[in-house]
Amino acid sequence: MKTLIVYYSRSGHTAKIAQELADALEGDIEEIIDTKNRSGIIGWLRSGRDAMNQSLTLLKDPVNDPADYDLLVIGTPIWASHVSTPVRTYIHQNQEKFNQVAFFCTAGGDNFTGTFNDMGKLSGKSPVATLGVRGKEIKNGTYGSKIEEFIKALPM
Ligand SMILES: Cc1cc2nc3c(=O)[nH]c(=O)nc-3n(C[C@H](O)[C@H](O)[C@H](O)COP(=O)(O)O)c2cc1C
Repeated sequence: MKTLIVYYSRSGHTAKIAQELADALEGDIEEIIDTKNRSGIIGWLRSGRDAMNQSLTLLKDPVNDPADYDLLVIGTPIWASHVSTPVRTYIHQNQEKFNQVAFFCTAGGDNFTGTFNDMGKLSGKSPVATLGVRGKEIKNGTYGSKIEEFIKALPM
């Protein structure tokens, strides 16, 4: 099964999980690149506002075509209880090219359901699997079993 992992990460958590999934699944990996500066406190505030308003942003053109993949694994941090703005934009712009999808989120808290629902609605697809990882689990390295469960649920 040809698999692409696409993700956005402002501060590295989602990137770390994305890389581990790509290694385990032997898939291709692609970072979603936003042209908007989201660093520092101003970037944090802007990101929260953009997510709450469900705004779109201007992304750099993606490298890979999701239509070339059987499975697209999409990863986002949670911003203001929503999917991050760059991932919202990626899904909005590409959803017609998706085959099967799976979603993963990283967050400070443990309330992932609303974001997975958002991603499903935006994609027009139900995910074959979902994975939510908390920042503290990433810090402590205690998320391995969650990754294993997620991978088991994929149609490989
Ligand atoms: C603007 C902003 C808003 C956030 N809002 C939430 C939130 O509503 N709920 C939550 O659990 N975590 C929230 N977080 C924490 C991030 O989801 C968490 O730190 C995530 O792992 C960051 O991923 P990254 O390092 O890949 O950017 C927020 C972070 C930012 C920057």
